[in-house]
Amino acid sequence: MVDYKLLNKQLQELIEGEDNLVGILANATALLKETTGWFWIGFYLVSGENLILGPFQGPMACFKIGFGKGVCGTAWKNKSSIVVPDVDQFPGHIACSSLSRSEIVVPLWKKTEVAGVLDIDSVRPDEFSEYDRLGLEEFCSILSSKL
Ligand code: SME
Repeated sequence: MVDYKLLNKQLQELIEGEDNLVGILANATALLKETTGWFWIGFYLVSGENLILGPFQGPMACFKIGFGKGVCGTAWKNKSSIVVPDVDQFPGHIACSSLSRSEIVVPLWKKTEVAGVLDIDSVRPDEFSEYDRLGLEEFCSILSSKL
């Protein structure tokens, strides 16, 4: 299990005093990747009617996801996190890699609007729990202070 108390403290310290958003998000994915080894960890950022690919760690991914499309676009539309235990059971799931089996998507906020999402894929089914959702929501709220 990930120690989110420690992870989120590390994130806080890592980005303290920094204002380069691309660098902050890139280092945030590196911190998560180093800590967890999860398959794909990255950000999609709101740009008009789409989410566009931001900093990530892992294999190549799709550049653009429409509002309400896939897990990421649905999290944006619903303004809430989504935990997907089995990607094959999520209608409209966008498969960037056939190796991905489960997924979690957590919004980034600019005041009351979704400014982007953190998307994480695992090669194991049912990887993410409510415990992860809460820990990663805290992770994203720390980042949201920089948006
Ligand atoms: N699975 C996502 C697409 C992004 S990749 O997983 C990196 C979705 O359905 O929105």
